[in-house]
Amino acid sequence: MTAWLITGGAGFIGANFARMAAARHAGPLVVLDALTYAGNVANIADLIEARRVQFHHGDICDAALVDRLFATYRFDCVVHFAAESHVDRSILGPQPFLRTNIGGTHVLLDAARRAWNGEAGRRFIHISTDEVFGDLEPGDPPFAERTPYRPSSPYAASKAAADHLVRVWQRTYGLPAIVINCGNNYGPWQFPEKLIPLMILNAVEGRELPVYGDGLQVRDWLHVTDHCRAVMAVVEKGEVGHTYLVGGDEPRTNLEVVSYICRAVDGALDRAPGTSEKLIRHVKDRPGHDRRYALDSSFLRGSLGWRPLEKLETALPALVRWYLDHKDWTDAVRSGAYRQYYERQYAER
Ligand code: NAD
Ligand code: DAU
Repeated sequence: MTAWLITGGAGFIGANFARMAAARHAGPLVVLDALTYAGNVANIADLIEARRVQFHHGDICDAALVDRLFATYRFDCVVHFAAESHVDRSILGPQPFLRTNIGGTHVLLDAARRAWNGEAGRRFIHISTDEVFGDLEPGDPPFAERTPYRPSSPYAASKAAADHLVRVWQRTYGLPAIVINCGNNYGPWQFPEKLIPLMILNAVEGRELPVYGDGLQVRDWLHVTDHCRAVMAVVEKGEVGHTYLVGGDEPRTNLEVVSYICRAVDGALDRAPGTSEKLIRHVKDRPGHDRRYALDSSFLRGSLGWRPLEKLETALPALVRWYLDHKDWTDAVRSGAYRQYYERQYAER
């Protein structure tokens, strides 16, 4: 029975992955999560209760704790999601991003290297982002595995540094590591500081929808379950030393995404069409804002047979319904600290 360590498994993507792993992997699953503002044990409470997941509240920067977990569980696989993940917060204060995303990744890499000591059959899967590549001009081809790194935000720079460490540990120390660079995820349990859940909840509550700048920035959207299926395929069949890019082939401007959300919210609440669109307000742009992302996932598709199953526009009504049905959760995660952040981020825009 092989044991897997899932770092950041109480966050958005990590919790969705833990859920998928609990259904597909027979061995022990251990979640290590520091429960920052973005982590919430409620996201996996049912898995913990059913003893499908063993939860450890702790910090990936705590080398003694990480070593202890490796000694106790003898992990065969690490799936490393834990990170500070929000670009706007990284602009307000980069330090926690450097600490967790770079320092924490280093702690995990070293612990895995020492524990595995070259033994076969191990895997370290590092979850990264397309933001490490910077942005694209309108006619540029999509990001590919060999696109040079050109990060724009403190978040992206910290993820780029972590990716470099992972590749160095693979090449120099022989750590069986794989990097996954993914585009923008959407789906249940996403913390409502990110575009899609923030716009859903604001539209539901009749509050302004703050679109940065002209709203024509393009992101490549992917449903979180499609991302998790890609991660699962890489865990099971991915080739050590490779990089896998994961995109949904769904390039959309932010204004298009917000329009879809407005339609889905008006539909769910039986409002007159166009009601929520009136809430859109263009606000001051994000500093250093990347204009366009696009990913070429052909290596993943060709080598592992993966393809995305969801489409943004058709998935959004169900997602709106999910947020409406999880009001206790959204109220809890938007407590005092969230309100302070929201005020700081949006009041002056
Ligand atoms: P998230 O912010 O929702 O969750 C991050 C989780 O990590 C939280 O549960 C948090 O408590 C935990 N964490 C933070 N610091 C920690 C520390 N020092 N020790 C232990 N746990 C800690 O993030 P997410 O959106 O689920 O992203 C997960 C990963 O996927 C990140 O590495 C992110 O860079 C990457 N990624 C995210 C997206 C996206 O669209 N959300 C896209 C591509 C890649
Ligand atoms: O591309 C992958 C990345 O996607 C991940 O690595 C990050 O962890 C994740 O947060 C996400 O980063 P983005 O900056 O693209 O996501 P965000 O949801 O913050 O913003 C999406 C777009 O919407 C971006 O162009 C900024 C814009 N935006 C965002 C917010 C929160 C707005 O116009 N208004 C807003 O209020």
